[in-house]
Amino acid sequence: MANERFFPQEIIRRKRDGKSLTDSEIGAIVSAITDESMVDSQIAAFAMAVLFQGMNPRECSSFSLAMRDSGNVLNWNRAHLHGPVIDKHSSGGVGDCVSLMLAPMLAACGAHVPMISGRGLGHSGGTLDKLSSIPGYCSGIETERFQAIVENVGCAIVGQSKSLAPADGRMYAVRDISATVESVPLITASILSKKLAAGIDALVMDVKTGNGAFAATNEMAVDLANSIVSVASVAGVSAVSLVTDMDEPLAPCAGNALEILEVVDYLVGERRDPRLHAVVLALGSELLVLSGIVPGKQDAINKLEQILADGSAVERFSEMIASLGGPNDLIERPARYLDKAPVMLPVLAKEEGIVSAIDARELGMVVVALGGGRVVTNDDIDTSVGLTNLVRIGDEVVSGKEVAVIHARTKSDAEAASDKVLESLMIGSKIPESAKLIRGIYRGAT
Ligand code: URA
Repeated sequence: MANERFFPQEIIRRKRDGKSLTDSEIGAIVSAITDESMVDSQIAAFAMAVLFQGMNPRECSSFSLAMRDSGNVLNWNRAHLHGPVIDKHSSGGVGDCVSLMLAPMLAACGAHVPMISGRGLGHSGGTLDKLSSIPGYCSGIETERFQAIVENVGCAIVGQSKSLAPADGRMYAVRDISATVESVPLITASILSKKLAAGIDALVMDVKTGNGAFAATNEMAVDLANSIVSVASVAGVSAVSLVTDMDEPLAPCAGNALEILEVVDYLVGERRDPRLHAVVLALGSELLVLSGIVPGKQDAINKLEQILADGSAVERFSEMIASLGGPNDLIERPARYLDKAPVMLPVLAKEEGIVSAIDARELGMVVVALGGGRVVTNDDIDTSVGLTNLVRIGDEVVSGKEVAVIHARTKSDAEAASDKVLESLMIGSKIPESAKLIRGIYRGAT
């Protein structure tokens, strides 16, 4: 039979009209994204059609596996490894720097962590953008070097590349600027294409829910949590998803270099924000048990506390940074290396009361507007800008009290951001019911 000519628009049309796509149609779309025969506008239209019409579980698995197979799948020489190959990923939020802590912590517990991460997406920060604030750090390296670092140091955080899940590289960039992020099948395929391409044995997924998450409702978060676990299982990877709160930023800061500083302080033990620490321990302990490194949850928590206390986690972090081209004394002298914004402006409360809600998405957009995120795909970002000293839900404020500090390029940027920060804080008269930080754990069918 003669080869039929492929028209992406016909497949986009079928999805737009609510039809389910065959495996071969999905395969054709992913190949065309990868070989660039589909243009960005067609990718955006396809993403929007999926966002509105969804995908059934078979389509979602087929799409995720085709995206994984758009590049190579890493093969690990088990004889060179001393532990399982595992990973953690977040669906994205504000002030979420957990990956940067957990990768070295898991490595210090005896695992190998080949973490393929993404840039910022929409209002949410990206691990790669945070790492780009470290001078010399190179997240775009050859596969052989990536594997060698993961074997020897225990962890490496890099970006997807021409050889690893390249289809996601294009989709991710187009989704970022076309309002097509908030879709369970698109997020599942995006995340799992990268994770499965890394040849992992086990994965813990942090599905964020709340106003600063892509899954704004608990229902969507639970769908995403289950979708990730079930597609991973089709691919032979054990996975567990935790649904966690994103109704306020996770760390008390947001911004690229500012979050690297938070990570350094956390690993060194200078300062550990309790919310951040609770999420790190919850995700890390699930993964240590799932991958068989320790038998039970309490052993896992003890182990994570121990590698923080004895300095082995921070040592792994430092080795990873140096192996990927960064300075070998970042931990000792972060201020020497991380860019500092020229303007620092405290935001002062204009009323009195208790912080009853925070619009975390708005705070994420404040960071983007300050220059810490992108408006179009090729925008350069300013890694120095962002927010620190953020108040928490339940904190008391009085007029004139600092509720955040803005780090900006100019005074006028800072003043504009200050108004937005104040608008994002809801001040009430009573202490709000505290939202559960860990909302649920999803392990799939047993
Ligand atoms: N992280 C990803 O890698 N992809 C998404 O779509 C969302 C979060």
